[in-house]
Amino acid sequence: MTPFTNKPSPSQPHADNTEVLTDVLEPRICASELNAESAEEIEELERHGLLSEISRRRFIQASSALAASLAFGMPGFIEAQEATHNATVTLKVNGKPQTLSLDSRTSLLDALREHMDMTGTKKGCDHGQCGACTVLIDGRRVNSCLTLAFVSEGAEITTIEGLAKTSDPKAIEDLSAVQAAFLMHDGYQCGYCTPGQIISATAAITEQQKGELSIVSWHSGKNDQPELTDDEIRERMSGNICRCGAYPNIVAAVRAASKGASA
Ligand code: FES
Ligand code: FES
Repeated sequence: MTPFTNKPSPSQPHADNTEVLTDVLEPRICASELNAESAEEIEELERHGLLSEISRRRFIQASSALAASLAFGMPGFIEAQEATHNATVTLKVNGKPQTLSLDSRTSLLDALREHMDMTGTKKGCDHGQCGACTVLIDGRRVNSCLTLAFVSEGAEITTIEGLAKTSDPKAIEDLSAVQAAFLMHDGYQCGYCTPGQIISATAAITEQQKGELSIVSWHSGKNDQPELTDDEIRERMSGNICRCGAYPNIVAAVRAASKGASA
């Protein structure tokens, strides 16, 4: 057997992926066949009704060969994956500018948590689905897990750490109206989603006060300065998931905060 006969050079185009895999795997399978699948062994397996063992071994050999090819045969690809693209960025968070050297692919969420030690903003899904990472950029709520840190340069970023009236709040009076309302109405259980809920509620109340509409406003026909009803609150907060199901108390807290009352 001459396993390497007619093996195309790496630069030759292949008809499809199957052909490529066959080329990679075949020589190794043939070589191992000479060792492992001796006539005696096949007879032995046949006697015990274990011929399927040969297929299993072939599969394992083929998988190992493919894994080795991927690991050692494509160094350029692996290097490209590991290459970093660092650059300098200045982020203004809660009024304080901070200059960082970051990989240009860093999300705003990771910049806050991993590079600025601001862990109040939470990472839930990291896919834009739960709202745990909500921050304000120039007053608008965004999912920081889906926002590149570099895109936020020059903007006013507000996180949960920057909402209170003082930098080191000691009493409920030092908190923002929404923070205080969440405390008073027990708007949380484990608290993991709470920073995102509070940031989102803060923006939702401002949006409603500015007369911005939601889909509920359209359906209810109240398009002129819509009231922040419970339905409006539920709709406007629908991007923030609470896995503890603290929704009734979250709605109560937002309602109270929107009326200027924490309790
Ligand atoms: Fe960003 Fe879930 S962590 S939306
Ligand atoms: Fe636990 Fe919302 S309070 S996830």
